[in-house]
Amino acid sequence: MRKKVGLILVAAAMCAFTACSQESAQSKTGEKGAQPEAAAPQAASKSLVVYYSQTGATKKLAEIFQKAKNADMFEIATVTPYPSTYDSTIAAVGAQRESKQWPALVNAKADLAKYDTVYLGYPIMFGSFAPPVYTFLDSNDLSGKVVVPFCTYGSGGRKASAAELKTLEPNANVTLAYGISNKRITAENGAEVAAKEVEGFFADLATGKTDEMLMGGFTDQRALTAEDSAVFAVATKDYAYLKLAPLSVATQVVAGTNYLFVCTTSGFNRPPTETLVKIFKPLPGRGEPELIVMEK
Ligand SMILES: Cc1cc2nc3c(=O)[nH]c(=O)nc-3n(C[C@H](O)[C@H](O)[C@H](O)COP(=O)(O)O)c2cc1C
Repeated sequence: MRKKVGLILVAAAMCAFTACSQESAQSKTGEKGAQPEAAAPQAASKSLVVYYSQTGATKKLAEIFQKAKNADMFEIATVTPYPSTYDSTIAAVGAQRESKQWPALVNAKADLAKYDTVYLGYPIMFGSFAPPVYTFLDSNDLSGKVVVPFCTYGSGGRKASAAELKTLEPNANVTLAYGISNKRITAENGAEVAAKEVEGFFADLATGKTDEMLMGGFTDQRALTAEDSAVFAVATKDYAYLKLAPLSVATQVVAGTNYLFVCTTSGFNRPPTETLVKIFKPLPGRGEPELIVMEK
C-alpha cells in the first residue's frame, strides 16, 4: 500500500572555507611566506530553506536547495511523529485534514526577520501540503517574503499546493513551484537529476517564467498513435490504481521528448475527472519513459 502513494541542515564550515581560500591564494602567487590577503567577509545568508519531510525524500530535495543557494536550514518537526505504517499515516493525516487540527510542532516559530526569501519544501499529502506545514504557516508571518515552494509527491500536487499557498499567504510573493516525484528523487541518481532540474528551475524563476509559459512549445493535442500509447503504458505501469485513460496527446522535442497526455482518471471510485499527465521519454538508449507529474 505504501508503494501506492509512494508511486502516489556554521562555524567549522566557515573555518574550512577560509583555510581553503588561503591555500588557493598561496598556490596562485607561489609566495609561501607572504601574508595571504584577508578573505572577503562572507555575506550573511539571506535565504532560508524551511521543510518538512516524513520519510526523507523532501529532505533530500531541501538539501539540494540549501546547497544551491547557500541558505540556512529549518526543519519542521512534529511533537508526535506520524505512525510508522503507511495506512496509519493515511488515517492520521486524514483525521487532521478533516478536523483542521494541525499537529503541534517542536519548533513552530522560525526567526524569519533576516531572510528575504524562504524556500518552503513539503511532501504532498492528500493533494496539498503535509499537515505540519499548515502549523508552520499559522505560526509565522511570511508577509513581504519571496516564498518559493518545492515539493515531492507520488503523482502530483505541485500546482495545487502552490495555489493554496498563494491563498493562505496573500501578502507573500509566492513564486513558481518546483516538484519531483518520490520515485525519481529516491532513485540512485535522484540527487543528481534533481540538482540539474533545480538549476533549470532557478533559471526559470530568474526569467519570470510562469506555468503557462512552461507549457509553451508543445504541438497541438492530437489523437494517440500506437507509439504514444506504448510510451504511456510504460510510464504509467505503476499507477494502475488511478485508472488513467489517455484521450489525446501533445509533444515537445527537448533532449528526448516531453509528452502531455490529456486523460481521464477514475481511480478510488471517483467520477472521471480530466487530468494532464506529463511524461518524459529520454533519447534512445538512455532509459525508459517516466511519469513526471499528473496535474489538473
Ligand atoms: C498520508 C500520505 C498522503 C499522501 N498523499 C499524496 C497525494 O495526495 N498525492 C501524491 O502525489 N502523493 C501523495 N503522497 C506521497 C508523498 O507525497 C511522497 O511519498 C513524498 O515524496 C513523501 O515525502 P517525504 O519522504 O519527504 O515524507 C502521500 C503520502 C502520505 C504518507
